[in-house]
Amino acid sequence: MSTTTPQETITVTLGERSYPVWIGRGLLDDHARWRAALRGKHAMVISNSTVAPLYLERVARGLDGLHWSSFLLDDGEAHKSFSNVGSALEALSKLGATRDACVIALGGGVVGDLAGFTAACWMRGIDFIQMPTTLLSMVDSSVGGKTGVNLPAGKNLVGAFHQPRAVVADIGTLDSLPAREYRAGMAEVVKGAAIGDAPFFGWLEQNAAALAAREETALIQAIATKVRYKAGVVARDETEQGERALLNLGHTFGHALETAGRYTTLLHGEGVAVGMVLAARLSERLGMSATDDTQRLVGLLAAIGLPTTVPAGFDADHLLALMRLDKKNTAGTLRLILWRGIGRAEIVSGVDEADVLALLREACVGR
Ligand code: NAD
Ligand code: GLY
Repeated sequence: MSTTTPQETITVTLGERSYPVWIGRGLLDDHARWRAALRGKHAMVISNSTVAPLYLERVARGLDGLHWSSFLLDDGEAHKSFSNVGSALEALSKLGATRDACVIALGGGVVGDLAGFTAACWMRGIDFIQMPTTLLSMVDSSVGGKTGVNLPAGKNLVGAFHQPRAVVADIGTLDSLPAREYRAGMAEVVKGAAIGDAPFFGWLEQNAAALAAREETALIQAIATKVRYKAGVVARDETEQGERALLNLGHTFGHALETAGRYTTLLHGEGVAVGMVLAARLSERLGMSATDDTQRLVGLLAAIGLPTTVPAGFDADHLLALMRLDKKNTAGTLRLILWRGIGRAEIVSGVDEADVLALLREACVGR
């Protein structure tokens, strides 16, 4: 059992359910550290067909002496499905998992969301540990306890709040992450700054090249700053009664784009990037923010290599119909996260659909 000192440890403070987010290189092999978070004798590692061949063995070495099994998903957003939760629950039953069993999510956000939801369902809720292996899952989905799966009607429509016992973010796993996925994760870093941390946004502008080149010092600082920001929001508003909704800047547009593209045209982070730009443009249209702020956002996203416009083939009316299904809406009105400029996001209820449609028609024109 090796021991590795995390370069950063951030605590999500939720009373008895508080947990650490460890960020550093080599943490998957620090069995003594994360194994202490397992309480019982059963563990099930949920991973996928891409990540398991790369990293499962290192995790398995830490499970020596336990009754454990693995459950592997096929790769892709389409597999974050209700039927796969059913199969994972069957696998827990086959393992004989008792109430003190632990699910370990080894992978990106798809694996983490599904594994967390599986843990939330088994015997009305058992422990789980997040071992995120994408940048997006390190800075966003592994922290905060939102778990769930998609339905054909829309993203994340079924789920539960269920906090992990620990988050083990081994940044060494990012060495094998494809460049496009890395950039998509950066969108969630930019999002945190755009919502509520203008100095961090400035820092990202200055360090965009270092981050694009995956320089480790800059990368760890970016991950830790975003996680610290999110941990603060989650500690204040765990179940999204207010402030936490701000974390969805760009998501109502982004989810519609992802769904309309059948989860193949845009990655989640890319959808969020384009969605943030649309939210900024709508804010401008509504007189809430200045063009300069939109331009800075577009500039930073472009410097990281992220898309900032709606790709070809999308239809404005279809996107609006999908946006109506967003969980933030109440019957009959759109509730969106807009902003007053960098670092100042706001929840806006009763947004006029005509304004949104006009913006979407402009964004989809000629594409
Ligand atoms: P993902 O899980 O699909 O992973 C992206 C791709 O990278 C996949 O092909 C995966 O197999 C591969 N991969 C993962 N780790 C790898 C590694 N180390 N080396 C090589 N390949 C690797 O996608 P994602 O971007 O991590 O997560 C997106 C999902 O997260 C979406 O379903 C989204 O809804 C969800 N999400 C949830 C929250 C939340 O709060 N729960 C927040 C943001 C996003
Ligand atoms: N990704 C939004 C949230 O965790 O609330």
